Amino acid sequence: MKITIIGSGYVGLVSGACLAEMGNDVMCLDVDARKIASLNDGKVPIHEPGLEPVIRRNVEAGRLHFTTDTPAAVRHGTLQFIGVGTPPDEDGSADLQYVLEAARGIGRHMTDYKVIVNKSTVPVGTADRVEAVVREELASRGIEVEFAVASNPEFLKEGNAVEDFMKPDRVIVGANDERALLLLRALYAPFCRNRERLVLMDRRSAELTKYAANAMLATRISFMNELAALAERVGADIEAVRHGMGSDPRIGTHFLYAGIGYGGSCFPKDVKALLRTAHEQSVPLEVLAAVENANERQKRVLVDKIVARFGESLDGLQFGLWGLAFKPNTDDMREAPSLVLIAELLRRGARLKAYDPVAMAEARRRLGATSGLSFATTADEAAKGCDALLVATEWLQFRSPDFAQLRGLLRQPVVFDGRNLYDPVLMADAGLEYHAVGRPVVEAA
Ligand code: UDX
Repeated sequence: MKITIIGSGYVGLVSGACLAEMGNDVMCLDVDARKIASLNDGKVPIHEPGLEPVIRRNVEAGRLHFTTDTPAAVRHGTLQFIGVGTPPDEDGSADLQYVLEAARGIGRHMTDYKVIVNKSTVPVGTADRVEAVVREELASRGIEVEFAVASNPEFLKEGNAVEDFMKPDRVIVGANDERALLLLRALYAPFCRNRERLVLMDRRSAELTKYAANAMLATRISFMNELAALAERVGADIEAVRHGMGSDPRIGTHFLYAGIGYGGSCFPKDVKALLRTAHEQSVPLEVLAAVENANERQKRVLVDKIVARFGESLDGLQFGLWGLAFKPNTDDMREAPSLVLIAELLRRGARLKAYDPVAMAEARRRLGATSGLSFATTADEAAKGCDALLVATEWLQFRSPDFAQLRGLLRQPVVFDGRNLYDPVLMADAGLEYHAVGRPVVEAA
């Protein structure tokens, strides 16, 4: 099938590469000429495990092309995917200017039947707006060309995106046009050999499904984070509670991990956007409003523990920080809880030495000139000589340090773990004072 992907960012690139991998002829369009040139050389601008070989292989096979030429890209695909950014506006609603601009580009250049597919996360009703914009462009050219607009939201997780695309839990397709449905069904059939995974519905339901799924996951996290605070007060251990709750198949084990709050490019933005939509419709989403507030509070949870342990002023104290990315297997620091942690500790006069296995370049770009913050080249170096070690991201390589050696590196044997990675018994045994989230404090022996 001939496919065009408008927007070669995270969603666009992964979708384009994986659709080419399945044998389709894919052209990816972007306005950034430098990005397109380096992609044509097989260089991938984002850190995503497994993506680079898929791109390289398909570029070499001639199934994947990158271009800045809008007319050529519109000519190429019968399916025109829109995968551009929808950053939050000042009021929290999704900014649709790039989506609508992409739609205009299609309307300006199309000469034959197209299915325009929204892959970007967009508020309910966007498919209608895309349709209106394309109609406007066609009218101003004085021509009539048939087209359909469909909604096909993306559920990729950063760090696991290729696998998620190639073996999806479900593919949601919303369309109100038979011909479009048939084409999309054919496109996704090889990804969904287990038929029930392809879920067909109307466009508005598809648009809402994406927000509903992310809002539900965010709700689980905030709920567990609030329970963790209660567990601390009543002397319970949230890890035991999580295990006990998660064994009920109606609850399930995923997304029940208490920590320092959710971050990333999706949850914070999508929760805000859904709240905005609900507000516009005068429908109260009180549960979700609380989810967002609880998450803002949660990003400070380690700061509160550090202040309770060391006092309001952290002058003269040095902390080692393990993990900067908002989660493992990505260098993405958008809305990362580590950013709040760093800012709050520096504000109180502490000095910080940070290390992340892949996000160092991104951290230097964002925080390079921040006084009081330095960067270490290894995890050990970050911990060395510090008054406490802080863990903000659950990278595998942080999960089983040599505790005795860690104790030797630290000036004071104190660990604040924002991801509940360690066994309190082992911490006590190693003589480390251990503060986790929702668990009893372990005193140093
Ligand atoms: C998410 C959705 O999972 C994905 O389906 C959607 O398409 C985009 O948004 P992503 O943002 O890549 O994906 O990350 P995800 O793995 O979902 O984690 C989001 C945040 O929640 C991270 O900050 C993570 O640390 C946090 N989290 C996750 C918890 O704090 N506890 C958990 O139990 C799970």
